[in-house]
Parts: sequence; structure tokens; C-alpha cells
Amino acid sequence: MIVYLNGSFIPHEQAVVPVEDRANNFGDGIYEVVSFADGCLFAFEEHMDRLRYSAREIQLDLPEDPSRYAAVAERLMTENSLAGYASLYMQISRGVAPRLHAFPAQARPTVYIAAKPGKYVPDEDREKGRPAVTLPDLRWGRCDIKSLNLLPNVLAKQAAAKAGAQDAILIRDGMAIEGAASNLFAVFNGTLVTHPKGPHILGGITRQHILRLAESLGIPCLEEPISAEAVWKADELFFSGTMLEIMPITKIDGKVAGGGRRGPVSARLQTGLHREMWGK
Ligand SMILES: Cc1ncc(COP(=O)(O)O)c(C=O)c1O
Repeated sequence: MIVYLNGSFIPHEQAVVPVEDRANNFGDGIYEVVSFADGCLFAFEEHMDRLRYSAREIQLDLPEDPSRYAAVAERLMTENSLAGYASLYMQISRGVAPRLHAFPAQARPTVYIAAKPGKYVPDEDREKGRPAVTLPDLRWGRCDIKSLNLLPNVLAKQAAAKAGAQDAILIRDGMAIEGAASNLFAVFNGTLVTHPKGPHILGGITRQHILRLAESLGIPCLEEPISAEAVWKADELFFSGTMLEIMPITKIDGKVAGGGRRGPVSARLQTGLHREMWGK
């Protein structure tokens, strides 16, 4: 596999970063995951806008304009003979410097980009939906930054997996905020509801596409917090994310939730999003 590291296209085995990279010592960096559908990058510029935002919020000077990475992505697709469905992982850290918490006076950001064949979630899974668990949201106060610090997300995903679920609904101050690696949507009497953008959630690119799509389909939308109790009254529930797209939630903590199946609003949005991504 050929990857991109600091301006060079090299074999994956040779992509080595010094141990004192700040990503390694502090998780001091940001990342993005973009999907390729039918060989085309999906919503690339929106992902780059979020990358610019994350960089600005952690005061990291990007070494180049991220729009340039579209060409890097295309080359990685070609070099690795990836057609069809693939994912692009991009990570930018503050660079290599002796381990001191405050920013180093001189360090060049480390830029790593890799493209891999995507594991397309089977349509049957998207139709069947998946169980979730609820867990307290242990993350920090700036979840809007797509930072490399993912320990609470890792722990939540692991706890979910241990409980036989794929993802966790994170609860903060009595509100069902989002998933450990996804945004959360609920449908109440035909209205689509999701937590408003702000410091407690990641402003998902898929979330944004779903909201726009719902509007175009005439589905009423509300960006409002959903209480942990209200989740149980939802007619439909689903997670959204770049590689997940729209995944219905059928059970929470072992009990039937969201109607226990993929609902009609979720199905319409799945079809619409699929069409946007794949053009069919
Ligand atoms: C915490 C969190 N929320 C939401 C999302 C969904 O974001 P996107 O739709 O941009 O993939 C992710 C994706 O990784 C995530 O980690």
C-alpha cells in the first residue's frame, strides 16, 4: 500500500513517525475521514472546511491549503488501484518536538494520508438496523473539534462492543447527545430531530447532508436536544456517519427502541443519501 507522508508517496511500511511526534505524546492533532464512492470523493470540500476549522480551533497552522489534498487522494486511489468504495484517512499533528506541553517554538506539522478499500456496510444491515447502548459522555468540552484525542470514544465503543452493540448513545446532562463515532437522529411524529451544533457534538458532514436532504424531501426538521427519556418515545432512531451513512437503531440497552425496525423516514433518507453519494 502506498501512503502519503509529509509530501512523499511511500510504501506503508516506510511511513514512520518519530516517537516524539505530538500526536503520539499528546494526541495533539486533528483528522478527517472522507469516503470515495464509485471512485469519487464525497463531500471533500466540506471535510476540508471542517479540517480548517479544527486546525484553527487548536491553533495549528496548516502547512498548505487542504484543498490540495484532493490531488493527493486521487493519486493514492490510482497508486493503490482502488476503484468503487474506499475511505481516506487524513491526520495532521503539530509535529515532532521534545515532550513539553506548551506548543514548540519550531515544529513542522506531520501530514499523513492513506486510502484504503472501504468496508461497505451491507444493505441488509442498513435495513435491519443495529442495537446500541447508552453510556455517560466522558468527553471534553470541545467535541466540535475533530481531534486525535479519542480515548473516551474508544472506551465507549469498547463498552458497546462488549455489550453486543456497535455504538453507544452518549448521555450528557440528561441529553442523548450523539454516538461515540456518529451523530444521533430521532423521528417524533414525522419530525426529524437532532442535537444542535455546538461544543458538545461533532458537526457531522453526513448530519448536514441529511438535514438538507430532509428539507428537500419536505420532512420537518428540528435541531434540538433530545432528552435521554425522550429517546424511548422516538418512532425512529438512527446514527449517521461518513462510512456508516444512516444506520437505524433498533434496540437500546437490550430493549426495543425506535420502533424496533428501520422506519419510513429513515428509509427515505437512506435512499436519498445513497443517491447523492453514488449518483444512483
Ligand atoms: C463523535 C462523532 N460524531 C459524529 C461523527 C460523524 O461525522 P461525519 O458524518 O462527518 O463522518 C463522527 C465521525 O467520525 C464522530 O466521530
